[in-house]
Amino acid sequence: MREHILVLEPSGLRIAINEQTTILEAIRMVGLQVSSECGGRGTCGKCRVLINPAAAPTQVESTLLGKHDLDGGVRLACQHRISSDTRAVIPHTTAAVKILASGVSSPSDFAPDEGHEGEFGIAVDLGTTTIVAYLLDLSSGNQIANSADLNPQVIFGEDVMSRIAYAMKDEKSGTLLKRSVLEKIDELSTMLCSASKVPSDQLSRLVVVGNTAMHHLALGLDPASLGLAPYEPQMRDAFTSKGREVGLKSVPNTEVYFAPNVAGFVGGDTLAFILSQRLDLADDVVLGIDIGTNGEIVLSKRGELFCCSAAAGSAFEGATISHGMRGQDGAIEHLAIREIEDAPDLSVIGDGVPRGLCGSAIVDTVAELLRNGLINASGRMKVSARVVDNTKEGLAYLVVDVGEHASKSRIVFTQKDVRQVQLAKGAILAGTQILMQVANVRTEDIKAIYLAGAFGNYIDPSSALRIGLFPHVDLESIIAVGNAAGEGAKRLLISKKSRELIEQLRKEINYYELATHDNFADVFAQATVLESIRD
Ligand code: FES
Repeated sequence: MREHILVLEPSGLRIAINEQTTILEAIRMVGLQVSSECGGRGTCGKCRVLINPAAAPTQVESTLLGKHDLDGGVRLACQHRISSDTRAVIPHTTAAVKILASGVSSPSDFAPDEGHEGEFGIAVDLGTTTIVAYLLDLSSGNQIANSADLNPQVIFGEDVMSRIAYAMKDEKSGTLLKRSVLEKIDELSTMLCSASKVPSDQLSRLVVVGNTAMHHLALGLDPASLGLAPYEPQMRDAFTSKGREVGLKSVPNTEVYFAPNVAGFVGGDTLAFILSQRLDLADDVVLGIDIGTNGEIVLSKRGELFCCSAAAGSAFEGATISHGMRGQDGAIEHLAIREIEDAPDLSVIGDGVPRGLCGSAIVDTVAELLRNGLINASGRMKVSARVVDNTKEGLAYLVVDVGEHASKSRIVFTQKDVRQVQLAKGAILAGTQILMQVANVRTEDIKAIYLAGAFGNYIDPSSALRIGLFPHVDLESIIAVGNAAGEGAKRLLISKKSRELIEQLRKEINYYELATHDNFADVFAQATVLESIRD
């Protein structure tokens, strides 16, 4: 019987199911929940999930669901079987997703602009996976509240390339992507205002920072050029308009500002990261690395800025890993092997039954397999008590066996998963090394590596160094700065000076396109080796 991959959102958990299994059965199999009052008999209409691609509705679905829902891809989990790889969003579970809203920044030299008493603003970090919105008092610059959710576009694909491909299908698809993200910003901003008792007509500015693809999709710009070399953006300059002009219904009269883009894969979020850490003012050589569904790398050589984007894929978000998932209840976040024949020590978010591995545990697993000789530097797995032949997938390390930690199914880390991590880490390291070459710096010159984003916040730096994800610096030189793009967005919101500076940084930064760089292929091949990189 044929099997297909079902990705369950918002956790991003991937499971292989056969064509006879309903989505409801699959959801239950991995211990997740969806309302099902009738127990799957097809009478209550409660087991609604959003599906992509959505096959033609069954008779029961046509009876129990309205046209609007059916057209939007809503189906009944108990009635639906899949005939191709599919994504399904289980509603009302986003509260459990660990979304990183806070960040640290260098001491601010951006005082709030004067003359904004009684005015408020919203800063939005528009990520590929998550959207975070912050409500600030524009006169004091103080944050009043924040709110976050999954980017609703995840149903259309995990990474920016799949979103671009979806948007290019036809005009309707592009409009759907734009509308979904604007509606989410509207929802977050309405929620923030009502929770903080701030009338929405007192919002005078809304700032958005995002990668170039998110920027283009939100503004309804044609993203086609981002999907093809030389990956040119349609718009590089900052963009200012009114809420109603861009389609934000909750703030029709508010000034809306989109941060500028550097290149097709280096957007306003990277510039906001630079701004929040003032990498442009660094006294030494420092690196700024943001690993999400892509990897953006910035090198500052005493304030001279170099940057690139590494096509790291989504392995560190769990998307291309057999039992990968996002940081949500049930995700293993750390793993340590004490004895190679014993079950590894696990730390599970929410302390419940483990369901899969999120990015930090994925790095730990490869580092621990390497440390214990269960893989070699080229990534090849070796049979042992817990490295089993997983038939279809070949060799696989048994992270959790049936019955361990009350799990009803196995969680494995396969030889293919090790390869996926090698490709992802190879892309990040090769990008870093190319920037070091062009800036003429050596590993010993690097005084700090600032890691932005959720992955950087939760990974164990020693595991990252062991597999050679970064050049080998002292452990204390690796500094997690949290949601640095969000911190930068807040500065852009309150200060005209910061908006002027980000435009200047956009023009001054030295951007390198790795795909066309002369020796990238050689550097990349060497960078996939699992070893600590000293130079
Ligand atoms: S569980 Fe009742 S209709 Fe699906």
